[in-house]
Amino acid sequence: MITLHLIRKEHRADVHLTIRIIIILPEDRIILYMLTITIIGSGYVGLITGICLAERGNTVTVVDIDEEKVRVINAGEPPIYEEGLQELLKKHVGVSLHASTSYTSVSESDVIFIAVGTPPLPDGSADLQYIRSAAEQIGIALLEKHVKYPVVVVKSTVPPTTTRDIVCPAVKKHMEEPFGCCMNPEFLREGRAIEDFMHPDRIVIGSDDEEAIAKMKQVYADFDAPILVTSPTAAEMIKYAANAMLATRISFSNEIGNVCKKLGIDVYEVMKGVGLDNRIGPAFLNAGVGFGGSCFPKDVSALASLATSVGIDPILLHSVITVNDNQPSIMMALLEERVHDLADKQIAVLGLAFKDNTDDIRESRALCMIELLREKGARISCYDPMAMEEVKHIFPASQEISYMSSAGDALDGADACLVMTEWPEFEKLDKEFSRMKTQIIIDGRHILNIPHAEGLCW
Ligand code: UDX
Repeated sequence: MITLHLIRKEHRADVHLTIRIIIILPEDRIILYMLTITIIGSGYVGLITGICLAERGNTVTVVDIDEEKVRVINAGEPPIYEEGLQELLKKHVGVSLHASTSYTSVSESDVIFIAVGTPPLPDGSADLQYIRSAAEQIGIALLEKHVKYPVVVVKSTVPPTTTRDIVCPAVKKHMEEPFGCCMNPEFLREGRAIEDFMHPDRIVIGSDDEEAIAKMKQVYADFDAPILVTSPTAAEMIKYAANAMLATRISFSNEIGNVCKKLGIDVYEVMKGVGLDNRIGPAFLNAGVGFGGSCFPKDVSALASLATSVGIDPILLHSVITVNDNQPSIMMALLEERVHDLADKQIAVLGLAFKDNTDDIRESRALCMIELLREKGARISCYDPMAMEEVKHIFPASQEISYMSSAGDALDGADACLVMTEWPEFEKLDKEFSRMKTQIIIDGRHILNIPHAEGLCW
C-alpha cells in the first residue's frame, strides 16, 4: 500500500507543499520517506543532528530560546565552527532547515528530538532542568495538534531512567493521545561531527515501543551502520559507558606514560605495541596532557556521581578523573625542572582549544596550564589558530598574557614553550623555534617533529 500525504508548510515567508510517501510492505515493514522533524536545542548536538537529517532529505526545524542563535542560523551562518557545517547550512537553510524560537513545528512533526544541555551540578551530577522543561513544552505543543503517533527522542546525554521516568511522564502530563518515547545517544566528535553523524559506527535506539522503534529506523533508513535496539535505560548507559571507556584509555595511557618518562621509555612506542593487539586496538591511547572538552570530564563525573547515588564506590572513574586532573601539574613540574624560577619568564603556549579542529575551549588543558603559569608569575604568549577569541573572554590581553597571530610570534623571545593542543600545523614548526630565547620545548601532545622537543610523558 502506498499513501501520499500532502502537507501545507509555512516557514517564514515561504509556503510550500511537502509530499510524504509512506510505503507499507508485508509484515508491517514501513518505508517512510521525508520525515518532518523538530529538534529542541540548536547547540552542538542539536544543530548537527538537524542539518544532517535535512541533508538526508527530511524537513527539519531546530528550536532554541536564544534569539540571536536562531537569527544566525536562519541567515545561513554557523553559530559554532564545525567542518562542513557552513556549506550544509547554505544548502538547506530556508529550504529544508529552519530555526525558530517557538515550539509550533512540534505539532506537525513525526519525530521530536530533545538535544538541550545537561550541564554538571556542583556535585558532578547532570542538571536535568532543561530536559524537563523541553519535555513539558513538547507535551503542551502536542496537546493541540499532532501527527499520528509522534515520537519524542532524547538525544541529550542523560543519566539512566531519565527518558522513562522524567521525559515520557512530562510529555504525557499534557498529551493524552498515544505517542512514542525513545533514547538515541549521539557519539559525535567535535570537529568531525558531520562525518561522524553521516557515517556512524553504530546507531543505538533505546525504546520498548515497537512503533517508536519502527519510526526511528526510518530516521536512520539511509545510514550504513548497525542498529542496536536496547531498553531506554541501556541506551542512556551506553553513552556514559562509551565516554568513560575512552576517557579511561586516555588516563591509562597517561599513567603508563608518566611511568615511562621516569624510566626513559617512549610511551608512544609502547602503546603502538599495545594497540596492535586486536583485543585492544590503537584508538585513544595517545598519552599527553589529558582530555578536555564538553563530554569526557562532565560525563565521567556524572557517571561517578550516579554510581555513588546507588551505593557503588566508583574507584576506577575517580582515578580516571584524578589522573587527568594531575597531568597539567606534571607538565608544570617538568617545566620548573627545566626553567627553575618562572617569575617574569616568557612562556609560549601553543594551542588553546581542547583539541584540534575546533574553537571550543571547554575544559581545555591549556586553560589549566595558563592558571598555573599565572600563579607562578610567568608572562604568557599564546597562539591558537581558532580559539584565541574565546580565551580572551576568560583571560583578557594584559601585561601577563598576550595573544599572537602565529606560533612563530608567540615563540619570539620565549624562555620556554608548552604545546597544549594537537593542531596539525604544529607538526610543521621548525625554524620558528630559533626565535626563542632558550629552546626549552615541552610537547604535551606528541605533535612536534623536532628532535630537541621533550615529551611530557615520553
Ligand atoms: C568525545 C567522544 O569522542 C564522542 O564520541 C562524544 O560524543 C563526545 O565526547 P570530543 O569531546 O569531541 O568527543 O573529543 P575527542 O576527540 O574524543 O577528544 C577528547 C579529548 O581527549 C581531547 O582533549 C583530546 O585531546 C583528548 N585525547 C583524545 C587524548 O588525550 N588522547 C587520545 O588518544 C584521544
